[in-house]
Amino acid sequence: PAELKTVEAGKLHMSTNAAFPPYEMTTDNGGFEGIDVEVAEAIAKKLGLELVVDDMDFDAAQVAVQQGKSDICMAGLTVNEERKAVMDFSDTYATGIQVIIVKEGSDVTLDTLGDQLIGTQRGTTGETYCTDDYGADHVVPYDNGITAVQALMNDQVDCVVIDSAPASEFVAANPGLVILDTEYTNEDYAIGFAKGNTALLEAVNGALAELTADGTVQSILDKYIVA
Ligand code: ARG
Repeated sequence: PAELKTVEAGKLHMSTNAAFPPYEMTTDNGGFEGIDVEVAEAIAKKLGLELVVDDMDFDAAQVAVQQGKSDICMAGLTVNEERKAVMDFSDTYATGIQVIIVKEGSDVTLDTLGDQLIGTQRGTTGETYCTDDYGADHVVPYDNGITAVQALMNDQVDCVVIDSAPASEFVAANPGLVILDTEYTNEDYAIGFAKGNTALLEAVNGALAELTADGTVQSILDKYIVA
């Protein structure tokens, strides 16, 4: 195939927010791992590029790709109309559900969210849904999911609305938290590109289709997502 133009020749820069296990998180020795990191590595390999992970806030990770400072934004990134107006998306490679984390014994339910102080990750769909449905007064955005969950542990918020897979990880790591059975909403995750970066988008979609067909994507999901 013709040489792909990327931010840095021979490299594929992925902007992300590596505080979102099991999709992206830091390792003890300062590296990165997770579903998105492994899928991106497999895509980069197929394209003959070397993956570089650029870790930043979730908002910044989206802006970076829109401004052509990264090649792809891969961050458990939900596809929605608002984002489609400012970036292009690959085919979907995973799905998520916005769930509600509460402290054990709490009487918070989906129906009473409008009476609560809700912790969210800044710039996420969870923040948007809760702000639209209950008003900004009820929503406290945190820099990332980990700090939102810490705020819940410290009783600074009544619940946290966040994607299901990181919710399971945070609850497993913090005794005394539970996920409510009531699911808030379903979403599709895809890779974000600068608007009009069609050559790269098509190359990535081609690689993703091969990695889906040969079972690589599913085996990466199975490795990280505990049923
Ligand atoms: N899926 C949600 C969204 O797109 C949250 C993603 C947060 N990802 C992250 N790496 N912090 O808004």
